[in-house]
Amino acid sequence: MPTTAILSIDQGTTSSRAIVFSLSGQPIASAQYEFTQYYPQNGWVEHDPEEIWATTYKACKEALAKAAESDVDVVSIGITNQRETTLVWDRSTGKAIYNAIVWQDRRTAPTCNKLAPSLASVRAKTGLLLDPYFSSTKIAWILDNVEGARQLANEGKLAFGTVDSFLIWRLTNGESHVTDATNACRTNLYNIHNNQWDNDLLTLFNVPSSVLPKVLDSASDFGTTAQGLFNTQIPINGVAGDQQAALFGQCCFNTGDLKSTYGTGCFALLNTGKSALPSQNKLLTTIAYRINGKTTYALEGAIFTAGANVQWLRDGIKVIKVAKETQALAESLDYDHGVFLVPGFAGLGAPHWEPNARATMFGMTRNTNNAHLARAALEAVCYQTADLLSAMKQDGANSTSVWVDGGMVGNDWLCQFLADILNIEVKRPAMMESTALGVAYLAGLYQGLYKDFEEISTHKALDKAFLPAMPNDTRDHLCAKWEVAVQSTLHFAN
Ligand code: G3P
Repeated sequence: MPTTAILSIDQGTTSSRAIVFSLSGQPIASAQYEFTQYYPQNGWVEHDPEEIWATTYKACKEALAKAAESDVDVVSIGITNQRETTLVWDRSTGKAIYNAIVWQDRRTAPTCNKLAPSLASVRAKTGLLLDPYFSSTKIAWILDNVEGARQLANEGKLAFGTVDSFLIWRLTNGESHVTDATNACRTNLYNIHNNQWDNDLLTLFNVPSSVLPKVLDSASDFGTTAQGLFNTQIPINGVAGDQQAALFGQCCFNTGDLKSTYGTGCFALLNTGKSALPSQNKLLTTIAYRINGKTTYALEGAIFTAGANVQWLRDGIKVIKVAKETQALAESLDYDHGVFLVPGFAGLGAPHWEPNARATMFGMTRNTNNAHLARAALEAVCYQTADLLSAMKQDGANSTSVWVDGGMVGNDWLCQFLADILNIEVKRPAMMESTALGVAYLAGLYQGLYKDFEEISTHKALDKAFLPAMPNDTRDHLCAKWEVAVQSTLHFAN
């Protein structure tokens, strides 16, 4: 009897991955391909849509082929993706008319400034802010900067999608132009309360409704892979933006459950249940998942660079060869090493939202070396997480522990420093692929392979818990210094 399995596609900011999961959430086979990052101008970040597709397809074929060696029946596909990244393509050819504008891209900051008087109404409907991070201004930029695009859009000849939508279009050979609620709610065009695209917002951001995908539940019928793509045609049944997928994969199903993911960026999401809790502290109110037409919300803190800080050490200034080195380098220093990095490489996200901020290093001496830089880069994401959790607390959401995941949390030093600075328990799950697992669970739910959340939760296991061990006065001293560094960076941006 073959093992029933689900293929998860995790199309992230730096790589495309495919993992075949058993129903108990164990990876059976996987494949991963990195792709090129383009920085055509200061603050701009783009991806080649064909490379996104090619790496994704190759990863899927490879993972499916490996899985086939062990008598597996892949019955469904889940897709999770880098959110907000914006593609516009020609409906007749399926070819994008411009590169994908990545979520980190800051080119539309001036547009966001101009729209500032509408902030309150945008925030009330979408739970978001006015920032180039979200898709709406990126869509308008493409329509206004690619010759003839606006005209074609008005004639209904162009389609917009986040990466999930684009991949589904390609996987179904243009049969499905759809997305799910967790991705739609990151566009600044979607009303998270009535679950509809919003006409006033479409007018405000100058986006024609003709380009929009249909919005489905996160567990739904998104279409079936076209004939000839894989050995069999497979239905696509789970879709969620990567951060919401991680929340789901971490089984944070109860109000108050909190997870923080350390991938390219860092994103802390707190399940707020049926209530879309508005933030007074510049956090985002977002859709965590929508199942059977019922919406569960989350409060989100978004930090634009986390693993990307380490990538910069490796590929940018080349002070380390591999990311792993950072653990030993960080361990080689004491708490009072004195160097702080405020990583505004892509501006600063929550809770400051300053697109013009730039990365700044404080406290260097002639003695400063790669250990200080590595340690400051790791510490920064911990301080930033503390800022997010303190904003959540001020919004009335207090947590006593946080589940973590993402590439960076394999680093024990980082997890311990995080627990020390947050002053709460940091829990690392045994299965670290929460993002991909989340959409496998969503697809499995749709297929009736899981009865309910309780059954899914039985597959969750703890790898290691990190308890705070830092004296209060040390933490207070470090956090006060961090705050001075952040304020100076913000001051420099203005
Ligand atoms: O909102 C951006 C986010 O979805 C990117 O996630 O995993 O690439 O840091 P990641």
